[in-house]
Amino acid sequence: MPSDTLTITDNRTGKTIEVPIEHGTVRATDLRQLRLDAQDFGIITYDPGYMNTGSCRSRITFIDGDQGILRYRGYPIEQLAEESTHLECSWLILNGELPVRSDLTAWENDIVNNMAVNEAFKPFFNSLWHDAHPMGMLQAAIAALGTFHAPSKKVHDRGERAKHIRNLIAQVPTLAAYAYRHNAGLPFVGPDSMLSYTGNFLNMMFSRGDTRHRPHQVLERALDILFILHADHEQNCSTSTMRMVGSAQTDPYAAVSAASAALYGPLHGGANEAVLTMLREIGNKENIPEFIKGVKEGQGRLMGFGHRVYKNYDPRARIVKKCAEEVFEVTGRNPLIEVAAELERIALEDEYFIRRKLYPNVDFYSGVIYEAMGFPTEMFTVLFAVARTVGWLAQWEELITDSDQKIARPRQVYLGEEIRDYVAIDKRD
Ligand code: CMC
Repeated sequence: MPSDTLTITDNRTGKTIEVPIEHGTVRATDLRQLRLDAQDFGIITYDPGYMNTGSCRSRITFIDGDQGILRYRGYPIEQLAEESTHLECSWLILNGELPVRSDLTAWENDIVNNMAVNEAFKPFFNSLWHDAHPMGMLQAAIAALGTFHAPSKKVHDRGERAKHIRNLIAQVPTLAAYAYRHNAGLPFVGPDSMLSYTGNFLNMMFSRGDTRHRPHQVLERALDILFILHADHEQNCSTSTMRMVGSAQTDPYAAVSAASAALYGPLHGGANEAVLTMLREIGNKENIPEFIKGVKEGQGRLMGFGHRVYKNYDPRARIVKKCAEEVFEVTGRNPLIEVAAELERIALEDEYFIRRKLYPNVDFYSGVIYEAMGFPTEMFTVLFAVARTVGWLAQWEELITDSDQKIARPRQVYLGEEIRDYVAIDKRD
C-alpha cells in the first residue's frame, strides 16, 4: 500500500524511522531521531546555499524552473505584464487577489500621496560622498528612514505593518531618485500627486526642477512592465535575507535595507549592472567568441545567464527582450543590443551552456533598456530594488503571520579544534 511516508534506516545503529511526507517535503527535525546515543544531537541536513531546503510555506509566487513558468498569486507573469500595472500587481502580491476598481484607486492614491519623505530626512544625503554608489546610498537611506518611524517596531500590530508597508512601497522610489540626484549634483524634486507612481519616479529622477518631466508613454509603460517583472521571485537571496532579518522581529525598514544589501551583489540584482559592463568590454560582435572561450576556461561568468531555479528560458527575459524593441522605437537602438543578441545566440548553441542549462535571465536584457531610457548603469540595481520592495514586504507579512515560523538559526557542521588549554603568550611557538 503506498503511503505518504519516508522510511529511513540509519546503518550506523540499525534504527529505522518512518517520517511523514507533506507537500513533497519531510521535516528536517524528524531526522534528529537518528542518533548514535543519548548525548548525540542527531542527524542534521547539510545544504550550503539552500539548494534543497524549503524554508517556508508560501502562497505568493510560483516558479517552475524546468518549464520556465512564473506566476504571482496564480496569475501568469505574461498576462500581468500585458494587462496589469505595478501598483495593481503590488496589491495582488500583498493581498492575494486582484483589487476591485475602488480598492485600486484608493491604493494608487494612498501610495502617490505618501511618496514624500520627511523634510528633515533630506540632509541625510549630504553626509554621503558625491559619487557614492546609489545602491549603497539606498540601503543606508532605507535604514535611516526607519529611524523616523519608531512604531514600525510593533511588528505584531497589523495596522502598523500595513502603514509601513505602504510607506516603504511609496518612499523607496523617492529615496532612489534622491540617490541619483545626489550623484548628479542636482536639487531634489519631490513627488507630484498628479502623476502616476512610475511617472512620479521618472519625474523625481529626470525633472529639471522648474519643469515637470513628461516621459514618453511607451517609456513609462516599459518601466512599469519592468517593475512588474521584478516585483517578486519567491525565496531568492534578498527575499531570504528579508525573512531571516524579519524573523528576529526587526522593523521592516531595517529588514528591507538588509534585503537590498543582498540584492546589491553581482550574482543577484547587481547582475544587470555587471551585464552592461560586460557588454561594453566585449565592445563588438567580433570579440564574442574570444569572450565565450574565456568564460569556458573559468575567466569569469557570462553575466545575465544562468539561474538557480530556471533550467529553461527565464520567462521574464522573453518579455524584457520584446519590451526592448518597443523602447528602441522611441529612443533609437542601443548598439549593445546587437552584441547581447549575438552573445545569446552563440551561448545557446554552445555545448558548455547547453549541458549546464544556462539561459538568459531577467538581467540579460533589462540593462540595455535602462540605458536607452537614460538611467546610468549604477542605477540599474536600484531600479530592481524599487520594484522588489513589494515582494520583500509581502514575504515579510507572510512570515510574521505564519505560526510555523521561528527566528532563523541554521545549524553548522563543526570541523574545528577539540577542546585545548589556553597558552600564555610567552609560551607560544
Ligand atoms: N556563466 C558561466 N558559467 C556559469 C554561469 C554563467 N553565468 N552560471 C553558472 N555557470 C556554471 C558554473 O560554473 C557551474 O559549472 P560547473 O558545474 O562546471 O562547476 C554550473 O554552471 C552551475 O553553476 P552554479 O554556480 O553551481 O549555479 P548556481 O545555481 O549556484 O548559481 C547563478 C546561479 C545565478 C548565481 C549563476 O548562474 C550566475 O552566477 N549567473 C551570473 C550572474 C547572474 O546573471 N545573476 C542574476 C540571476 S537572475 C536575477 C536574480 O533574481 O537575482
